[in-house]
Amino acid sequence: MALKRTPPTDREKLIEGLNVLLASLKVQTNNLYAVHWNLEKTPSFITFHNYFGDLYELNEKHQDMIAEFVRIYNGIPLFTMTEFLEKSTIMEAEFDATNDLQMALSKAKVDTRVILATVREIFRETEKFPDVNDYMAEMVADYGKRNWFLRSSMDEQD
Ligand SMILES: [Fe+2]
Repeated sequence: MALKRTPPTDREKLIEGLNVLLASLKVQTNNLYAVHWNLEKTPSFITFHNYFGDLYELNEKHQDMIAEFVRIYNGIPLFTMTEFLEKSTIMEAEFDATNDLQMALSKAKVDTRVILATVREIFRETEKFPDVNDYMAEMVADYGKRNWFLRSSMDEQD
């Protein structure tokens, strides 16, 4: 007898979306640490070293809250590096994208846009979960601003 598969509930979809976002933020945080450490030949090194530090600190704040939302809604937040890499929608940075300023900015911008798209999708699908929905609105503002700052710091401003 074939097993009948039931569609995921709204709560299960919420947890899946939050875990994908958590994994993506973890990978971006790692990428941002690498830039903070590896950047070279950058006249404004101190400014960018500190700026990338601010970005990973903001990611870490959001990661903790997202994992706590997963617990609030009776799910289990991902926590192993293996799971983070499997679920993340963004890729780990290559060394060149952590050492060269323009490549680092470009990678951070691409990753930020992917995270922003994930956050907007969760926002659209969480009308029934107002606490998560409000938090996603806050994240849209944070990552929209990040996208603007990164774009404005680059030679190519798209
Ligand atoms: Fe540091």
